[in-house]
Amino acid sequence: MASIIGPHIHKRALLKHTVALNAMNDGDGPNSYFQNSSYQGGAVDVTKPIIEEEIATKLDDVVQHLASTFYIADFGCSTGRNSFPAIQFITQAIKQKLKTSSPKIPEFQVLFNDVVTNDFNTLFASLPRDRLYRAAAVPGDFHGRLLPESSLHFGYSSWSLQWLTEVPKAVADRDSPAWNRGRVYCTRERKDVCDAYLNQFGDEVESFLEARAVEMVSGGLMAIVVPGEPEFWNPETEFTIPSEINLFGSCLMDMAKKGRFSESKVDSFNFPFYLPTSQQLKVILERSQSFSIERMEVLNNPGKYTLPSVDARAVVYRAVLGRLLTDHFGSEIMDELFELYTKKIAASPIFQNPDNDKTTTILVVLKPKTD
Ligand SMILES: C[S@@+](CC[C@H](N)C(=O)[O-])C[C@H]1O[C@@H](n2cnc3c(N)ncnc32)[C@H](O)[C@@H]1O
Repeated sequence: MASIIGPHIHKRALLKHTVALNAMNDGDGPNSYFQNSSYQGGAVDVTKPIIEEEIATKLDDVVQHLASTFYIADFGCSTGRNSFPAIQFITQAIKQKLKTSSPKIPEFQVLFNDVVTNDFNTLFASLPRDRLYRAAAVPGDFHGRLLPESSLHFGYSSWSLQWLTEVPKAVADRDSPAWNRGRVYCTRERKDVCDAYLNQFGDEVESFLEARAVEMVSGGLMAIVVPGEPEFWNPETEFTIPSEINLFGSCLMDMAKKGRFSESKVDSFNFPFYLPTSQQLKVILERSQSFSIERMEVLNNPGKYTLPSVDARAVVYRAVLGRLLTDHFGSEIMDELFELYTKKIAASPIFQNPDNDKTTTILVVLKPKTD
């Protein structure tokens, strides 16, 4: 039977179990992503002047050929807390650009994308009243086609591309040399595990770009913001998100040793995301046949100063990782896990000082290549 999806839809567009779990904690309660995303929100302020400058100087081709509607899409919007201010400055900057070069200001249509299990209700219930745009949801995996061909003028994605649709196979396979036994993410000691993660990340970024290449109009722009790791940092005195994530591994192993669940339960769990270095991301993006890098900046992450305590850091992780951890280990262990995690970070002087957090914000502005 012929596929009703059609040959143009990449196979990754079909929702996988892992992708469904990538959604952040829903609602707007104390453990929700909506209330606990100021860390990621730091990217909005720090990327704003650069994205505005790119819009002012690089959107001329689109502006000249624009019909009645300007389409913007946010890939991986979650419940909107950080998307709204970002989309606001993006639409304002585009409006400003259009004012200077076009007699008529078109309408703005913003397409909010996230996985189908995302809490779009919270997003639509909290849309800003003073917005310049009409809003619509486009649910689905952004590694496949989501929008009509040649329809998108400006793409945006912040803190989302690091999510993988699955854990690299070699890392999860007990017969593979890269089996990540007793750990939940890659560590410096396991280059084979890190390489498997990097390859998977590279393949998935490529799928994302392939899909966007069909959807974007010629001359359009796309800004992607990806959390990253610096090339060099000192684990004796500094930390990054990956080192905090690996602390979850040690908490889970402690709990397994206490008999809360088996060690093999930890062995079979790995987090499906990867934080690249800027150099790794650059190499992946430069491989693209479809996009060229207009601008790339490695920025500090001011969001780290919004978390006043280690408890606040732990709540952020619960808002982000809650679904994944609950699915694998069960909801009954969550309070104990996060209490243990909070104790561990509180016991370490390294994690208590946000200055020691060396996680970076990588901003890349891309343009579709012309033939
Ligand atoms: C950390 S949140 C970032 C949300 C928002 N952009 C921000 O800056 O706060 C990552 C979002 O990416 C979404 N996501 C992850 N994988 C995805 C995929 N394959 N397709 C669409 N959305 C995805 C998650 O569901 C989640 O809402």
